Amino acid sequence: KIYQASTTAPVNIAVVKYWGKRDPKLNLPTNSSISVTLSQDDLRTHTTASCSSTFASDTLLLNSQSQDTSGARTQACFRELRALRAALEASNSSLPKLSSLPLRIVSENNFPTAAGLASSAAGFAALVRAIANLYELPATPTALSRIARQGSGSACRSLFGGYVAWEMGSKDDGSDSLAVEVAPASHWPTMRALILVVSAEKKGVSSTSGMQITVATSQLFQRRAEIVVPAAMVAMKKAIKEKDFESFGKVTMMESNSFHATCLDTFPPIFYLNDVSKAAIRLVEDINNAAGKIIAAYTFDAGPNAVIYYEEENTAAVAGVIKGALGGLEGWASREIEPKESTSLDARAVGVLRDGVSRVILTQVGEGPVRTQES
Ligand code: DP6
Repeated sequence: KIYQASTTAPVNIAVVKYWGKRDPKLNLPTNSSISVTLSQDDLRTHTTASCSSTFASDTLLLNSQSQDTSGARTQACFRELRALRAALEASNSSLPKLSSLPLRIVSENNFPTAAGLASSAAGFAALVRAIANLYELPATPTALSRIARQGSGSACRSLFGGYVAWEMGSKDDGSDSLAVEVAPASHWPTMRALILVVSAEKKGVSSTSGMQITVATSQLFQRRAEIVVPAAMVAMKKAIKEKDFESFGKVTMMESNSFHATCLDTFPPIFYLNDVSKAAIRLVEDINNAAGKIIAAYTFDAGPNAVIYYEEENTAAVAGVIKGALGGLEGWASREIEPKESTSLDARAVGVLRDGVSRVILTQVGEGPVRTQES
């Protein structure tokens, strides 16, 4: 007999960034963070978890490629979920003993892995949610976030839809370092995201090792963790509650800049932003200057891709203007957006973007993991 369950899980993009661990084994962060969950229509991982006495060992397939399951992160997730199932089995002897059976995990992303989009968040959130479904665990998304965090820190935020905080916690065992909902997607459903995928040749420093070097060497880092981020957390929660895009946008951009400043202050320095990223910043500044207020906000993770947040009512002034400047790229066809001519854009920045952006992804705030029929 084969037991099986499936789920999807979304990608999230932080607006207050996680950067630095106080415990690299448990992925306990040095600061709290906040993210927006993106729609699974555009970006998601689909994962099926099964277990059977006929399987020889634990296996993990990602986009049809066999992955190593012996790594500490995957092992931690398997171990924690098996322990919860074993406790359930101990209290109810009529349950099948799934906790002792080998697991088979099959994962598929609906977006190109080559695009360099952080897929580990959706990946580990889907892995944990799928096994929790398979084991019929009565665990809440917050309880599961404790486990997904051990797979990849940012994955803990992908257990929820909408606007999500990862509260850093203070305990050594990580039991209070958990994701919680700030607001559901339905609270502020008009949030849009436009991703400029930058054609980067080589992969830069991974976030896992990059943040370790930052913690060890950056002098700005401590101020960021102790002063800058706590203030940003308060301001961002307020902006989300009040659906105040100007505040949301300002905190988002300053947070991204602060994170990249500590990367530059790392020794040796880490450069995630390249000339194309800087041209995207210029474009957003030109759009905001033309509007006379903040209607678009850029943010960058551990790579050159720009994520630009804006509200639906400003689709023409943001996505329309960007399409007018960068039409002809792959990805625009997914949404009907009227290209708009604008004289306020810096011509040099537009040229750099035309050469350096390989595709766009148009998406919006979305829901959390969804249980699906077994495939
Ligand atoms: C810049 O979650 O990928 O995207 O915990 O080592 O797996 P690990 O790191 P990861 O780091 C994400 C860093 C970031 C900011 C963020 O998502 O908050």
